[in-house]
This record gives sequence, structure tokens and C-alpha cells, in this order.
Amino acid sequence: MAIENFDVQPLFATPHMRADIGHAISDEQVQFIKDLPMVKNVDNYISEDLYIFKLPELKSISVAIQEALDIYSQAVLGIEQRLVVTQSWSLMNPKGIGMPAHAHSNSIVSGSLYYTDLPDPVARVVFNRNIMYQRIQLNPLKERQNLYNTPANVMVPKSKEVILFPSDLNHLIEANESDEPRYAIAFNSFVKGKIGDYRDACELYL
Ligand SMILES: [Fe+2]
Repeated sequence: MAIENFDVQPLFATPHMRADIGHAISDEQVQFIKDLPMVKNVDNYISEDLYIFKLPELKSISVAIQEALDIYSQAVLGIEQRLVVTQSWSLMNPKGIGMPAHAHSNSIVSGSLYYTDLPDPVARVVFNRNIMYQRIQLNPLKERQNLYNTPANVMVPKSKEVILFPSDLNHLIEANESDEPRYAIAFNSFVKGKIGDYRDACELYL
């Protein structure tokens, strides 16, 4: 090959933010969330209440989540509007159970909160580059995978951490290989405030 020097730079990137909010979660709250009535979901279990961050018992947690969303909207999105939590629910994956690939509709930024201890080994979150259908399937060789071509990236959850990511990002949860249940909270958010422009006739107050 004649080319000796070349340079490749990323044009865009997909963010995911992590923040420790252990200071906002008490042992009583952990027990309170575990005791919430649950119903069968896909294969796992989901709280009956799908607005758990509105519960007064979880006030300190919802305040910390709002703080994390404020950081995301300012530092990642760079917007002046606020992101506010819409629905929020708790999840429990027993042994052998994960969560198939999905994305979160009617939401801008979604999140997971690992409010209690996690089993060992912990089932990871797998973020997929492709939404579903691949028009052209060009699979990179394993040894040549990089940021530009990797089909998936994994995230290892940590106890007391909140994770924020774009709601349209496809993701799945690996099966829980441990005998212990895997607990988490998930939530969606939407923008609040004015978006668009009056003169462009695309103004919208939310
Ligand atoms: Fe999800």
C-alpha cells in the first residue's frame, strides 16, 4: 500500500451517561421498592405502579434523577429546556431471565437505576447499533471491530448508579445467570418548556 498516513475522526457519537446517586437512596427505600406489588411482564416482573417516582417515599431518589437529567440536558444535549421523568417502574429478573431487545417510545432520554445490590455475575445491558432491519449487512471481522463498525456495545451495571441514554437506542438485558434476583428501576423522560420557533411556525409549548 502506498498510503502511509491517514486520519479517521468520528463525526457523531451516541452518548450514555452514568452517575452514582447512592447518597439519595436509603435502606428503607430499597426495601420499599422491593416490596412494591409486581406483575408478570415479558418474562420478568414489573411493578403494578408505573409512576413510582411520584411516590412520596421515593422523593429523594426522584430529586437525584432530576439532577442527573438536568446534567444530561445541559452537558450532553446542550439544550435550555428541562427533561422531566414521565413513567417510572421497577423490574425484577429472576434466574435465567433477561429482557429482549427494545427501545422506548414517546420518550427522549431513558434511564436505568440499579437501586440495590446486583447479583454476581451481573447481567449486562447490550446496546445495539442497528434498530432492527439491516438494509445491507456488512459484518466487521471480530479483530477489526472499532467504534465505527461495532454492532453492539455492552455496559456492566453498578449498584447505586443511574444510566441515561437516548430512548431510540435499541438495547437488551442479558439473562440473569445468578441465583439471586436482578433488581432495577427504569424510566422515561420528555422535554418540558418551549421548543421550535414562532416565526418558523413550529413553536410548541410542552
Ligand atoms: Fe429498556
